[in-house]
Amino acid sequence: MPEKKFYITTPIYYVNDQPHLGHAYTTLLADVLARWHRQRKQKTFFLVGTDEHGIKISQAAKKANKSEKDFVDEKAKIFQSVWQGLNIKYDNFLRTSNLEHILAVQKAISYLKDKGFIYKDYYEGLYCSSCEQYKMADDLIDGKCPDHQKIPQVIKEESYFFKLSDFEKTIKEKISSNKVKIVPESRKQEILTFLKKGLKDISISRKNVQWGIPLPFDKEYTLYVWIDAFLNYLTGLGWQGIAGKKPAFFPPDLQLMGKDILRVHATIWLALLLALKLPLPKKFFVHGYFTIEGQKMSKTIGNVVLPEDLIKKFGVDGTRYLLLSSLSFGQDSDISWEKLTKKYNAELANNLGNLVARAITLNSGIKAKIIKTKIQNKNLEKLFEEIKIKEILEMIWEKISWANKYVEEKKLWELVKKNPKEGKKILSKLLSLIFEISKLIEPFMPKTSEKILQQLKTGQIDILFPRIK
Ligand code: MSP
Repeated sequence: MPEKKFYITTPIYYVNDQPHLGHAYTTLLADVLARWHRQRKQKTFFLVGTDEHGIKISQAAKKANKSEKDFVDEKAKIFQSVWQGLNIKYDNFLRTSNLEHILAVQKAISYLKDKGFIYKDYYEGLYCSSCEQYKMADDLIDGKCPDHQKIPQVIKEESYFFKLSDFEKTIKEKISSNKVKIVPESRKQEILTFLKKGLKDISISRKNVQWGIPLPFDKEYTLYVWIDAFLNYLTGLGWQGIAGKKPAFFPPDLQLMGKDILRVHATIWLALLLALKLPLPKKFFVHGYFTIEGQKMSKTIGNVVLPEDLIKKFGVDGTRYLLLSSLSFGQDSDISWEKLTKKYNAELANNLGNLVARAITLNSGIKAKIIKTKIQNKNLEKLFEEIKIKEILEMIWEKISWANKYVEEKKLWELVKKNPKEGKKILSKLLSLIFEISKLIEPFMPKTSEKILQQLKTGQIDILFPRIK
């Protein structure tokens, strides 16, 4: 059994938004991988959190007629309760408004300033306040930010800069040699192409934004939210802002993110670590986006799907299954209530649910032996290593379909009466397979796995997935 540690992170989400299906997907994916590594007895740390500073949050608080502090406190609680509702088992929830985080960030920034990685100059640029990012002219479509359909503001101000350009060569080398592995490969190529244009130093201070971490060497400014946010991956492990001193579990073995934030991770985050003399993450996994009935999920369109809505209809494990089996490796995927309902009925109610109910019913009074084998499946391990989650579920579901067919072919309900000895033998094989399936689905559907084991033990049927309309 490998004794390696496993540190996995999700992006920390902006609290001006409600946790929606996109956030839920990344977080669920991390949860499954963390559970899988724990199941393999690896020392695992799974970090999540909320990104709570910056102009966007401040504006959202004002709109809600709340102080920033009250606003972020409320929103962070909502994220926590939604994650609890989805049965996400994280090890720490880092909030960037947390005092220890703020102090560590200030310490790190002071170090960078002392070492000459931060300097003062003028900045003029196109700033999209919704992204909290300066945009390059060629990022824009019809002069607008492509993600927010807004014309960015021209801002000229005296500002502090981070010497991102110093790290261009090292970053290129680390990414192209896979020391920092970016998957899928197409995303790695996209970043390498971007890096060819060269890296410019970036402004890391904001003069007119009060809601942020004050720069320790110039209190007129607050720190650019992305710098604040990236350091969460360190402070979430208790790091105190000291360069060269890595906290336990660091560096991340795997960092998950949507395609929208790969570029900043692959440049600013890596450069910060290099400047702070800390080791680089091993792997970034970039997943695709959900669209709803062909459209981007957006508040304006009014098609935002919330995890709570899904849970109400499909249950916790139903929701977990449906989301996890919807996105193919690195690809986008379109979903609709109709498609999800069909999938639920076919794969959960009729396939898995039916199999367990049939086998337990047939076994009543027979008590066939269950052989509890340990799962060792090289193919499965490889698929987990490659984060092919949908493919893993398909592999498990093939087993389930096979088992249902086996019951049919053998006419097991007749066989147990006509030839009890043979019937018992086949039933034993079937129950052992169901035991194996319960173990296989554990990281994905922990409660269902538990329920199946319980039913195997007691012989009491408990409908796993009632059919729905
Ligand atoms: N706060 C920054 C991240 C800082 S990390 C140091 C941020 N937050 S966010 O709230 O906008 O969340 C972005 C992430 O949400 C994406 O990277 C992705 O993980 C997830 N998703 C948001 N919408 C999504 C879909 N429609 N589909 C799938 N995931 C998407 O950016």
